[in-house]
Amino acid sequence: MSLSVSHLLGIKNLTLADIELIFSTADEFKDVINRPIKKVPSLRDITIANVFFENSTRTRISFELAQKRLSADVVNFSASGSSVKKGETLLDTVNNILAMKVDMIVMRHSSPGAPHFLARHTPTCIVNAGDGTHEHPTQALLDAYSIRQKYGEVAGKKVAIIGDIAHSRVALSNIFALQKLGAEVMVCAPATLIPTYMQELGVKVEHQVRKALLWCDVANVLRIQLERQEVKNIPSLREYSLYYGINKKLLESIDKEITIMHPGPINRGIELDSDVADSGQSIILDQVENGVAVRMAVLYLLAEKLKPNFKK
Ligand code: NCD
Repeated sequence: MSLSVSHLLGIKNLTLADIELIFSTADEFKDVINRPIKKVPSLRDITIANVFFENSTRTRISFELAQKRLSADVVNFSASGSSVKKGETLLDTVNNILAMKVDMIVMRHSSPGAPHFLARHTPTCIVNAGDGTHEHPTQALLDAYSIRQKYGEVAGKKVAIIGDIAHSRVALSNIFALQKLGAEVMVCAPATLIPTYMQELGVKVEHQVRKALLWCDVANVLRIQLERQEVKNIPSLREYSLYYGINKKLLESIDKEITIMHPGPINRGIELDSDVADSGQSIILDQVENGVAVRMAVLYLLAEKLKPNFKK
């Protein structure tokens, strides 16, 4: 079995079989990272550059750990402190990195489509680690993998994505992944934070957080992406928190156990209170743990397409 794609640009162009293959491969790597020696030699002759034009904590460390656990050689680039500040183009930056014999690029960029552009114009394998407001495929894979871990399967589960749907790449990638896996998806936010095309994607739209919580098995809570909003879409964070913030009192008033997820970074006290984020209902740190195994699976399966003779 191998992936139907040779880059990971988004969930949109993955098949259900691709996602299932990534999950079963991640299961094996999860065993590896829980062993005393957390390493396999699979990507020993592969060099990977992590090229980050936007801030990141989890995603970047998670990719780097995944690469190291697979024994790849790793170099890290971040736009601050680089020649991008001297006026170099994206294509020049990446072609210069590739000239140093790099096999794969993991990239994060503020412009939607930047990884798709590089996949067309460079000969390397590209993994999208978040392109602006568009997609964040490995986040959606690790989110769906965490739901599968919790419930045994994703099919039939009701997942409400609550928060800044319009500006979060996590929302779109999650919608594609969850739908492919047979879950029902709802988005919940003030109307100004929900794009009008949402209903065309076949997701339910809800504006009252209580109703969303009453409906769902899993609530994936997103941060308000103030850095991507050119106009003010909500009167204030305080008002958002008042109407959409998830706290213990609200959850206790709903007579069922909902699983709480968040891709991080959490703005505690705004979209999610600490007594929920740190409770037994939350699988936020499981998401982070699973991220390494899922990224190992993605890198391994893509490297297999570059050089088909790898052994795990
Ligand atoms: C998300 C991102 O960068 O898109 N974080 C992440 O990768 N874990 C979500 C966010 O920034 O809110």
